[in-house]
Amino acid sequence: MTDIDVTTVAAWKGGVGKTTLAFELAYQLNAVLVDLDWDRGGASRAWGYRHETRRRAMLLDSLENGKPPTPLRGGDRKPDLVPSHPDLAVSQPDPETLADRLSDWARHWGRPVVVDTHPGGGDATFGAMAVSRVVAVPTVFGTKELDALEGMLEEVPDYPLMLVPNLVRAPNTRDRARLRKLATDADVPVAPPVPWCAWIPTRQIRIAITSEPVAKRAEEYTAQIQEVAQAIRQYS
Ligand SMILES: Nc1ncnc2c1ncn2[C@@H]1O[C@H](COP(=O)(O)OP(=O)(O)OP(=O)(O)O)[C@@H](O)[C@H]1O
Ligand SMILES: [Mg+2]
Repeated sequence: MTDIDVTTVAAWKGGVGKTTLAFELAYQLNAVLVDLDWDRGGASRAWGYRHETRRRAMLLDSLENGKPPTPLRGGDRKPDLVPSHPDLAVSQPDPETLADRLSDWARHWGRPVVVDTHPGGGDATFGAMAVSRVVAVPTVFGTKELDALEGMLEEVPDYPLMLVPNLVRAPNTRDRARLRKLATDADVPVAPPVPWCAWIPTRQIRIAITSEPVAKRAEEYTAQIQEVAQAIRQYS
């Protein structure tokens, strides 16, 4: 896939920060954020989209009829969005169809695309991964999290994976060493780490964190997300 630029954010473990990372990366890359997670905690709600108030299910309609959806405009403080719908849980297209649709849309939009996914590897996730230039895998230091990562690396070694250490706080030498070994053994690059910020889970506002130029507290976070965005741009 050379003519389209899709980054899928995926992890076999829930709650590792996929949605937050996808939202921020889409903003930094000026990409269309395509939300393929059907759960309430997904990017669409974080963006401020409520499917209950809409008559049409843009994503489901476009997956069915093939016509590229027109992303909702985020303005200058959040990414443009193709929102998800709860019914995607039961009406996921097979991976090949999803891959065809997504690559058509990316070509039609002529812009980078970032995809948020449901935890684990469902059909929609595999379809998106298949047409991705990069599959960014948020990786949390912790035994269960690294076990899940190890399983993912064994299961999908042929995708263009990039590990993104996420929610990183206290130095944890043993887990860090394990991550390095997993990455080396699987020959997968590791992006700059994204710090854990105590204020992020309590945030209510619906703009990209990295769009807050005056928020002093977001400086370190923003700098690291920009580094990850750069690593994605340069991934080859
Ligand atoms: N850098 C960070 N520092 C602290 N908390 C964070 C950070 N990034 C995300 N969070 C918080 O961690 C929680 C999980 O994040 P998020 O919803 O992005 O994960 P997810 O992998 O998409 O979860 P799910 O598997 O349920 O889709 C949220 O409460 C979010 O606000
Ligand atoms: Mg999520």
